[in-house]
Amino acid sequence: MDIEGVEVRPLDLGRGVRFDPPFVLAPMEGVTHRVFRDLLLDAGGPGAAWTEFLRVSQVPLRAAAIRRELGPPRADVPVGVQLMGTDPDVVAETAKNAVAAGAPMIDLNFGCPAPVVFNKCAGSAMLDHPDRLHALVAAVARAVEVPVTAKVRLGTRDASRFEDVVRAVDEAGAAALTVHARTRADQYAHPARWEHLARARAWTRLPLIGNGDVLGWDDAVRMMRECGVDGVMVGRGALRDPWVLARMRARARGAPAPEVGAAQVLAFHARYRDDMLRGGATELGLVGQLKQLYRRLEVGLPLDAAARTALLRAPNLAALEALVEGLAGAPLSRPSPCSSGT
Ligand SMILES: Cc1cc2nc3c(=O)[nH]c(=O)nc-3n(C[C@H](O)[C@H](O)[C@H](O)COP(=O)(O)O)c2cc1C
Repeated sequence: MDIEGVEVRPLDLGRGVRFDPPFVLAPMEGVTHRVFRDLLLDAGGPGAAWTEFLRVSQVPLRAAAIRRELGPPRADVPVGVQLMGTDPDVVAETAKNAVAAGAPMIDLNFGCPAPVVFNKCAGSAMLDHPDRLHALVAAVARAVEVPVTAKVRLGTRDASRFEDVVRAVDEAGAAALTVHARTRADQYAHPARWEHLARARAWTRLPLIGNGDVLGWDDAVRMMRECGVDGVMVGRGALRDPWVLARMRARARGAPAPEVGAAQVLAFHARYRDDMLRGGATELGLVGQLKQLYRRLEVGLPLDAAARTALLRAPNLAALEALVEGLAGAPLSRPSPCSSGT
């Protein structure tokens, strides 16, 4: 569909994997775990999603452990496994296990800025070593039949090796490239440096997914138009507004936007709580996750600074939920005491 001078069409990775629409949810460690992902995917939002990064060290991760992160295969939307490691053989073996666990695609993380990762020469540290990055992508692409993609930053301190990185990914047989338009030194600073996305476009014919500071439809369309990317990845924008990708999907289809108000936030909260508890979360863990949600949420509830602070200070689940109900002016649904919990 041609909208505002931009062709919004499915992004094809080959081997039967398509992102439709080409607006995808960024992997975010500690946030986009299975429960959160499924909530967004069930709302009809992202055209694709991934697990948070799974760290691969000395030995391959087993299929059972990967399956726990990935969940059951979804027929509607491809949900891939993201791996982060340095040893091509061990990561390739893990990728095989990920495919055995049901992953329809594998993404390789070359962006994580955390010192603990960087000091082991993984994540964004690989951006200083395009040859190693190439060897890793090539080994994984050779090992599995599913599309293998790479997610990179612009560089560690600056973008001086960015072209080498893009070409390394391209020549290693990747099926697509995601560029988070910041260096490691930028961390998460605004604005993201979209001008480098247009540079990458000139160096590769791979499907290119742009990432950084996309908060909604207008940003996505502007990024596609100005930078020539084929798809757009949304990170913190989906934490600020968990329905943003559903709205973008609707807009791409010319369908009415989903409503977002207090009722939707209450339903989201209730399912989040119930699914987390069913998955074995402790009350403490659940309260931490809900606080993380309310720390960033900017839609549906009147969350001024005072309300947010009160929520973040809630001592337990009952207190947190009472505050949410007060803000929403309506009660949260509670699991029936007779429900089996299955
Ligand atoms: C809390 C958090 C966790 C993240 N974890 C991952 C991760 O596991 N894998 C990854 O490739 N990127 C990770 N990222 C980076 C995001 O995927 C994304 O590239 C970044 O947030 C920029 O996009 P944005 O400006 O839309 O937020 C993380 C970002 C945040 C804020």
